[in-house]
Amino acid sequence: MKVFSANLDNLRKLYINQLQMLLSTEQQVAEALPKMADKATDTQLKQAFESHLQETQAHTKRIEQILRQAVGEAKAIKCKVLAALVTETEDMVKDAADDAVRDAALISAGQRVEHYEIAVYGAVRRWAQILGETAHMELLDKTIKEEGHADHLLTEVAERVNPYARKAA
Ligand SMILES: [Fe+2]
Ligand SMILES: [Fe+2]
Repeated sequence: MKVFSANLDNLRKLYINQLQMLLSTEQQVAEALPKMADKATDTQLKQAFESHLQETQAHTKRIEQILRQAVGEAKAIKCKVLAALVTETEDMVKDAADDAVRDAALISAGQRVEHYEIAVYGAVRRWAQILGETAHMELLDKTIKEEGHADHLLTEVAERVNPYARKAA
């Protein structure tokens, strides 16, 4: 239940509010990725998680930069979606009784996160454009491209890993 209302009565307030939430999203992704890399068996999957961790740190810095420029401080609002996705990932990893099946689960978990990020960034980038924040829009666009690349990389790994998971046990 919400304790207090953020009172979002214009697009700029919604924009800032969602950037603050995205900051929490990226912080939680940065915490989850090393654990996901650790649980992955496939070398390419491990590398995909590790390289996206570097990108995620850049995403965090970009949002901090935008927020500092816009409101003078970079504070986060907890993203409850990411918290739920992380819990689901932990459950799947615990339940997976085979290395390839665990990798397949990790890939699907990773792709859920990327699609969620792409959806939120897509809306926020459009709002930046409407609000005339061209510099913000360019930074957000860089991030969306990297999220898309991470997603495609995971699709490639899945094509190779899924058949092993199918044959497992
Ligand atoms: Fe990200
Ligand atoms: Fe991402």
